[in-house]
Amino acid sequence: MRRILLLASLAMAGPVAADGVENGHELYMSRCAACHGEKAHGDGPMAALLTIPVADLATLSARNGGVFPRVDVVLTIDGRMTLRGHGGEGPMPVFGPILGGGSAVLDGPDDTIVETRGDVIDIALYLETIQGEGN
Ligand code: HEC
Repeated sequence: MRRILLLASLAMAGPVAADGVENGHELYMSRCAACHGEKAHGDGPMAALLTIPVADLATLSARNGGVFPRVDVVLTIDGRMTLRGHGGEGPMPVFGPILGGGSAVLDGPDDTIVETRGDVIDIALYLETIQGEGN
């Protein structure tokens, strides 16, 4: 019986679990939409106050040869990949220390493993589901 419960919880912890996307959506709305906009087109209410344009996050795949740049997105959110608008040089906060979800890993390039937080992966999963969506 204990083994069955363990298996059930492992199955639910899968990286593509629907509740991960749902959690990512909620986090996106509370942490990101103010700048990136509710539909992620870079048109949130705070965008007008910033001196550099806020990126459209629904075109990440389109701008990357049709492939969602999952690892880059994760590293951008947790703050390890520094953009003009990130890492203290610009307005976008470094979210790694703020977000929760425990430790989590995803496959990086060349068989490497990328460690981050569960919430960061959930936000990336959510963004992946809205690629190519218009207004
Ligand atoms: C205070 C405003 C602000 C908030 C809040 C914010 N961002 Fe950003 N973000 C920016 C700006 C500005 C850029 C463009 C930076 C640049 O071009 O240098 C950007 C760029 C990005 C990029 C890179 C896009 C690309 O085209 O490569 C990603 C991914 C991203 N943000 C995700 C997020 C996520 C996810 C959240 C919430 C967890 C978030 N951002 C919260 C302002 C913000």
